[in-house]
Amino acid sequence: MAEQPIELRIQNLTKTYKNGVKALDGVSLVIPRGLYGLLGPNGAGKSTLMRTIATLQEPDSGTIRFGGIDSGFLDVLAQKEEVRKLLGYLPQDFGVYPRVSAEEMLDHLALLKGITHGKERREVVHAMLHRVNLWDHRRKALTGFSGGMRQRFGIAQALLADPRLLIVDEPTAGLDPGERNRFYNLLAEIGENVVVILSTHIVQDVMELCRNMAIIHQGRVLFAGAPDLAVASLAGQVWARSVARDQVDEYKSRMAVISHRLVAGQPRIHVLASAAPEPDFTPVAPDLEDVFFANIAGLGAK
Ligand SMILES: Nc1ncnc2c1ncn2[C@@H]1O[C@H](COP(=O)(O)OP(=O)(O)O)[C@@H](O)[C@H]1O
Ligand SMILES: [Mg+2]
Repeated sequence: MAEQPIELRIQNLTKTYKNGVKALDGVSLVIPRGLYGLLGPNGAGKSTLMRTIATLQEPDSGTIRFGGIDSGFLDVLAQKEEVRKLLGYLPQDFGVYPRVSAEEMLDHLALLKGITHGKERREVVHAMLHRVNLWDHRRKALTGFSGGMRQRFGIAQALLADPRLLIVDEPTAGLDPGERNRFYNLLAEIGENVVVILSTHIVQDVMELCRNMAIIHQGRVLFAGAPDLAVASLAGQVWARSVARDQVDEYKSRMAVISHRLVAGQPRIHVLASAAPEPDFTPVAPDLEDVFFANIAGLGAK
């Protein structure tokens, strides 16, 4: 059989919840191996998409296929058992932490994943505790773990079965900068032959980690591609100036304001325009945050 590319192909996925919320509105994406960023504000549909890929909920329509295994493409929505064998998943609310140690819990989870041989399981668990840098904390109860330690434990359990498809839902939310960095390093070390999908509302996550990304908003894909290409597409079109606090709305009504951020306490607006909108604006090199906000505001250069 011809070799399959390692990739996930999502086509025309839709999902409307019973309360009428359209969480996925025709999502199509080709996700290659490596780290892929799914960037979107709260409510965009990221967790819905990830739970659907993780075979935990059904879409209304659409297809998901996963390639890169010997037997060809898997139909993710139909072949759930096969997919679960390849899957590692860290949910957004990996919440319930029993009063057992990290080592005991990981051992238990490894048993559930089918590593029944005691000695082998111990080796796998020990190697994993080292890998996620929790070896020194292995006897500590999970209830006492910090946010960063929890997320590293979460990655450890997701990596246990050596997945080919790894889904991590908002793993850096709530981490302090040091913990976030440690977590980045851990994700960056995951093998090249794994599809890793990382959802986040934090632009910096995607900037630092992902070669490819999608921006999703209100259940739709607004941009899909490489972050640097997205940034390059705005070159020469972003203009900035500081404004008074009470002028922001007035500027918004007159021009395409992408974002306003506080710089040392004073609002600074970024405007999308092919030339300086007014004399007091200066050109700025666009960054991924400009891309994100421009897309969310419906101003994205495509
Ligand atoms: N089980 C559910 N029932 C009804 N609405 C839901 C449910 N889960 C999510 N939603 C709604 O669907 C939209 C997308 O949610 P979600 O997929 O959690 O987005 P994200 O992870 O990007 O924040 C939101 O408007 C959310 O309120
Ligand atoms: Mg979510």
